[in-house]
Amino acid sequence: MKYLIVANWKCNPVTLKEAESIFQKTEKGIKDVKNVETIICPPFIYLSKIVSEKSGIKIGGQDCYSQEKGAFTGEMSPNMLKEIGCQYVIIGHSERRKYQKETDKMINEKIKAALKAGLRPILCIDNIDQIKKDTDGLSQSDINSLAIAYEPIWAIGTGKACGISEAKEMNLAIKEISGKSASILYGGSVSSQNAQEYIKEAGFNGLLVGGASLKPEEFIEIIKIVDSI
Ligand code: 13P
Repeated sequence: MKYLIVANWKCNPVTLKEAESIFQKTEKGIKDVKNVETIICPPFIYLSKIVSEKSGIKIGGQDCYSQEKGAFTGEMSPNMLKEIGCQYVIIGHSERRKYQKETDKMINEKIKAALKAGLRPILCIDNIDQIKKDTDGLSQSDINSLAIAYEPIWAIGTGKACGISEAKEMNLAIKEISGKSASILYGGSVSSQNAQEYIKEAGFNGLLVGGASLKPEEFIEIIKIVDSI
């Protein structure tokens, strides 16, 4: 199975021109990559502009709503994301849990709606307890289809990536609780300096990259390092 490397651009960049430039540079830089599935999750507003059928890069949303449609001002339904060409959606990122006050119940409903719409959710967690709550009521085959990203809150955007042995322990614990088949990713200050260790030593199936994914050279380097493992 290919490694998954997911770019979470968060609320960046400010202009469409920059977004297109980052996307195109990344696309060009990884055209010979074989063993990595690269997914870029830009702000919603850029999705339709950067999506391309021919691209080697897949796209995803950074969130979605739990309903297909209706009177929910400002929301984006998973069906809309699917319709525009997304295959993935990040759900339950710690920044949304913190700033948008998303609860495990809301996240659980979003995962169900995303699966129903045919998207692959990338569930973000920073502790084991969240997994049970966030996947409550899902069949084992649904859980197997998830990507679960371990993102310790203190490691996000701080430059203080999680130690490899601690990350490995969490990876194994997540695999155990999720039934061993879901793809488990690491996120939190991933760089070209530490990417290899999380895959090779800690055994993760991929990476969720924030800040470094906005710097094409660095992001391409991360992807190439993982591609050559
Ligand atoms: P950084 O890579 O900037 O630490 O962000 C991680 C993250 O939150 C990805 O979802």
